[in-house]
Amino acid sequence: MPKPKVYCTHPLFEDARKLLDANCDAEYWANAERPPRDDLLRRVKDKEGLICLLTEKVNDELLRAAPKLRVAANVAVGYDNIDLDACTKRGVVATNTPGVLDETTADFAWTLLLAVARRLGEGETLARSGNWKGWNLDQLCGADIWGKTLGVVGFGRIGRAVARRASGFQMKIVYSDAVRAMEDAERSLNAEFRDLNALLAEADFISLHVPLLPETRGLFDGPKFYRMKPTAFLINTSRGPVVDEAALVAALENKKIAGAALDVYENEPFIHPGLKRSNVVLAPHLASASVETRTKMAVMAVTNVVALFKGQRPANMLNPDILRQA
Ligand code: DGY
Repeated sequence: MPKPKVYCTHPLFEDARKLLDANCDAEYWANAERPPRDDLLRRVKDKEGLICLLTEKVNDELLRAAPKLRVAANVAVGYDNIDLDACTKRGVVATNTPGVLDETTADFAWTLLLAVARRLGEGETLARSGNWKGWNLDQLCGADIWGKTLGVVGFGRIGRAVARRASGFQMKIVYSDAVRAMEDAERSLNAEFRDLNALLAEADFISLHVPLLPETRGLFDGPKFYRMKPTAFLINTSRGPVVDEAALVAALENKKIAGAALDVYENEPFIHPGLKRSNVVLAPHLASASVETRTKMAVMAVTNVVALFKGQRPANMLNPDILRQA
């Protein structure tokens, strides 16, 4: 029996590649930059499986170009790059990689929070510049973190992992979500539910953990920033379009908030020039980027593909309606 043909838009990590090669006839995109769209469309033509990154759009155009495709496995938990309805219509199973990146992403949300509050970017620049004249009493004084209020917007697995870390900083934790958490979750995390406007007015640090959906696109717009404290900071490790970047720039310029720390952007890899200011910490979409976690994500995506070709239900299937259709 010939092995199923799979196109993979990245060489992955060795563990994942071994698993894929043992089960599939895999072709890999191995260049450092992301594959050009026309090349991708050409290569998926005869493939039954696709393993892709969040930088690839799996939409009608791609599905039309890949008539044999049975599975599209995203190496990411967020799947706003995948048109699920289009996949379901064409009987293509879509999968993602939930769970394995929660703690690593929460670590990074805290990395950003700490960096922006304590002005690490500015301090690093000064230390490397050769212009540091030595210790001074009022040099690069930032904001305290301990004892302040953390506002978590989106109280899923990652939001809760971020909240869990706050107890070490003796922080008060408030959260908002479309659905209120169970009482025992609130109790164990010492977190209090707020509607979003109340959270905006109360929190000193606001960390975003919502998926990108029609209802969360542009969630943080001008009026939201005006409700925040002028001393508050925004941290975004979710998806860029959750924040209206022009409104964020205006809020920073008008000192409506104290600063921001961002890992994600509205039109990656473009970064709004107005965000390149000293009270904004910028990272290039790194929150899950530890070797351990990215390896787990890649293995998980491959495991989903292999399961499907073995006739099993992939563990992280996003469109189970397909099974109901069959
Ligand atoms: C995801 O998985 O959605 C992140 O943005 C990348 O880890």
